[in-house]
Amino acid sequence: MAIPLTDKPMSSLATDIMTINQGLFTSTTDKWATPQILFDLLNEEFHFTCDVCATEADKKVDFYFSPEQDGLKQEWTGICYNNPPYGQKIKDWVKKSFEASQKGATVVCLLPARTDTRWFHDYCQYASEIRFIKGRLHFNESKNSAPFPSCIVIFKPKKQKTIIKFWDLSEERKNE
Ligand SMILES: C[S@@+](CC[C@H](N)C(=O)[O-])C[C@H]1O[C@@H](n2cnc3c(N)ncnc32)[C@H](O)[C@@H]1O
Repeated sequence: MAIPLTDKPMSSLATDIMTINQGLFTSTTDKWATPQILFDLLNEEFHFTCDVCATEADKKVDFYFSPEQDGLKQEWTGICYNNPPYGQKIKDWVKKSFEASQKGATVVCLLPARTDTRWFHDYCQYASEIRFIKGRLHFNESKNSAPFPSCIVIFKPKKQKTIIKFWDLSEERKNE
């Protein structure tokens, strides 16, 4: 199966970005649903017990917290998957991921690789592992690639030092 990644040059990304920009002004803006192929790869490794933010339509794990329940107000335990809304509140989701790991949970986050932001510096430095994804993901199983790079940030209860990886998903699939 094709890997949902692209190394397209800027010129051909322009059309994609224009399409995606239309989406930025709609209520679907925050809903960058994880490509199933990426989730399956992570789930094979981590065996998630909870999707901390989802709806019935886009949940990746049977047990999930909905907007009505408000995942930020719930206790995160076990092995959690966190692909949060990418708006202003993303910092709260990353903070909660770190805090939940301090209480014993493992939290695997799919995040935009915004390495210049305060939330990235404040919390991701405490991650056990960060995987920078090569290329750009196709969220929502879209034919368009995202206008931003992504990374996987893994918070574990007992962190010693942060492992940084450069993650080529197509290589990962070849090794299966
Ligand atoms: C980026 S999408 C991820 C969906 C799915 N977990 C996935 O990875 O494909 C973020 C999801 O969080 C939901 N959401 C927004 N605010 C929430 C909240 N306070 N509590 C729980 N879920 C929330 C949105 O409705 C959306 O389904």
